[in-house]
Amino acid sequence: MNYNKKSIEDIEVAGKRVLCRCDFNVPTKEGKITSDKRIVSAMPTIEYLVNHGAKVILCSHMGKPKGEWKPELSLKVVAERISQLLGKEVIMASDVIGEDAKAKAAALQDGDVMLLENVRYMKGETKNDPELSRELASMADIFVNDAFGTAHRAHSSTAGVADYLPAVCGYLVQKEVGVMGKALADPERPFVAILGGAKVSDKLNVINNLLEKVDTLIIGGGMAYTFLAAKGYGVGASLLDAEKLDYCRDMMAKAEEKGVKLLLPVDTAVAASFPSPIDAEIEVQTVAADAIPDGMMGLDIGEKTRELFAEAAKSAKTVVWNGPMGVFENPVLAKGTIAVAQALADSDAVTIVGGGDSAAACEQLGFASKITHISTGGGASLEFLEGLELPGIACLQDK
Ligand code: 3PG
Repeated sequence: MNYNKKSIEDIEVAGKRVLCRCDFNVPTKEGKITSDKRIVSAMPTIEYLVNHGAKVILCSHMGKPKGEWKPELSLKVVAERISQLLGKEVIMASDVIGEDAKAKAAALQDGDVMLLENVRYMKGETKNDPELSRELASMADIFVNDAFGTAHRAHSSTAGVADYLPAVCGYLVQKEVGVMGKALADPERPFVAILGGAKVSDKLNVINNLLEKVDTLIIGGGMAYTFLAAKGYGVGASLLDAEKLDYCRDMMAKAEEKGVKLLLPVDTAVAASFPSPIDAEIEVQTVAADAIPDGMMGLDIGEKTRELFAEAAKSAKTVVWNGPMGVFENPVLAKGTIAVAQALADSDAVTIVGGGDSAAACEQLGFASKITHISTGGGASLEFLEGLELPGIACLQDK
């Protein structure tokens, strides 16, 4: 896939109506935004458009309202946050392509900013309905996609609208694709990837694709137990993707054939059961990875593994990390994930955290400023690491 796409700097935006798709799908609690990272990350593009005299029509989804008008998923709270960050009013439309949105879009002056309501209030959005794409496009002269987190979705507002308008990327998409694209295509070596998360089946293509590119592949988290089982170790009551044992053997053989070092846990923190609630007090012991007692469950990497993984990360020139090393929501079982986050923060390498839980962990631990790039994409960054074409980027004009 060609990632060399035209950006907002390659097109005249002054005086033009610009439909700018962002990923404002931010977490909220009791009507308050709990992390504004995605909004803050979109600000350079919004500021550029405002400062260059565009009439800016922002749009995004929030949650999965599935075509229903759910007030708790209104983007009003996002408009307020953008207004604060921008230091000027963001005009909130009360609908998406209805009378109010169209009238407000038509009345925009150069440098004004408005936000459409949650685009997933429209049934056609997730179906990439051409009628909705055409209606969205009818309000604007240019389409800017800056929603990296939603770039893996072929929806009306992320891809369909590009059939009707000149389409370019914003700074966030440019940065995400630039940093991660370079790491995958032309990394400084040694290149180390660290994968975690619960299930092997969620990362099948990521593992396969990364084995083509990395010098060392580290596997931790719940999915490591299926690899350990594939090596013939007993894994007790640990999470096991039994249908993926052959796949794990194939990947271990592929690593050997390619000369890729594949690092698996050498020890693990085990408990008698999964914590319930997830942050409940829990008694754990550390055992060797090939000596998990029957009935016990591996829930985090052990101390020797933490050192092994951290050492590999520290001696790398490029590190990509996606997925926690254990049940990090529980303080006793968060040590592996914290150790990896710390190793990335301490490393001089280009460090990239591929969104989702690992990104949240870095932020909560206060390491974000020490990481080269934390992706705003969860599913999108995984699909990027899989080497898949992202429809929200493929639809943009090539340079
Ligand atoms: C995300 O949070 O990963 C993006 O906003 C995409 O959301 P979705 O999984 O509901 O499409």
